[in-house]
Amino acid sequence: MKNILVMGAAGQIGSELVVELRKKYGKENVVASDIRTVIPTEIKDGPYEVLDVLDSVKIAVVIKKHNIDTVYNLVALLSAVGEAKPKLSWDINIGGLVTLLELARELDFALFTPSSIGAFGPETPADNTPQDTIQRPTTIYGVTKVAGELLCDYYHKRFGVDTRGVRYPGIISNVTLPGGGTTDYAVEIYYKAIEEGTFTCNLPAGTFLDMMYMPDAVKAAIDIMEADPSKLKHRNCFNVASMSFDPEMIAAEIKKHIPEFELKYDIDEVRARIADSWPNKMDDSAAREEWGWKPDFDITSMTKDMIEVLGTKLKK
Ligand code: SER
Repeated sequence: MKNILVMGAAGQIGSELVVELRKKYGKENVVASDIRTVIPTEIKDGPYEVLDVLDSVKIAVVIKKHNIDTVYNLVALLSAVGEAKPKLSWDINIGGLVTLLELARELDFALFTPSSIGAFGPETPADNTPQDTIQRPTTIYGVTKVAGELLCDYYHKRFGVDTRGVRYPGIISNVTLPGGGTTDYAVEIYYKAIEEGTFTCNLPAGTFLDMMYMPDAVKAAIDIMEADPSKLKHRNCFNVASMSFDPEMIAAEIKKHIPEFELKYDIDEVRARIADSWPNKMDDSAAREEWGWKPDFDITSMTKDMIEVLGTKLKK
């Protein structure tokens, strides 16, 4: 990777990935882009282009202008908002991906596209979910993620495009909030714990889901693109895991730092149904074996860091 374009750079993952990529490859070599015209503060220190993922012509101009060899495609509508807007979810998640796959074929760049725990469904084994298993998701988000995994495999096998990706768990972070996802509660709980000492959770107690702290999510994205291709048996949908918890477990961790913290529930039926259809805990041994994946954070070290960072940020 020498010249990198990040699409969706103003989003939850993009805003932190750009910062790490710039540290590693140099500010001028990492072009951030988003449909938003207001550039987030964190990524103001390098090149920025306003790009719509469906605008093939303009994307091609930007790719040629900056001599791009690697694109990170982080544009997506998440699971809960997708249930409210299924057509838009398909148009953005798949329309955007096909636009980039066709450009990758024509202009010869490597393409990272994340899949998700949402690519699994109720018939998938929920515990130690294997790398290769039954999927059949019941959300439009999941449908776009499975289709995306297959499309990326297809463009690699048929046209030799260097497509790669991971299946992300819910991502917990303290810079940019996620939006419209099922796992968002695990971010909001920290903000509310610090600001109000109480949080009303929209998923029921006992809902176990894979989660990951942002530094590990960023590391996974960089490492898979740096991996030796001759070692990759899979390419576009590596299970990556680091922790699995339910709302009670995360509340117990928060209470170690904020003893008076109180967890309440007001269940969102749409999100509860989605969460119920997703795995409890994925098996990520293929990623560990094929490209050396290993997370740095568990629920305890993540919670300590989140509370320290947000404690400072929210008091400003
Ligand atoms: N975080 C996503 C969501 O909740 C799953 O990948 O929709």
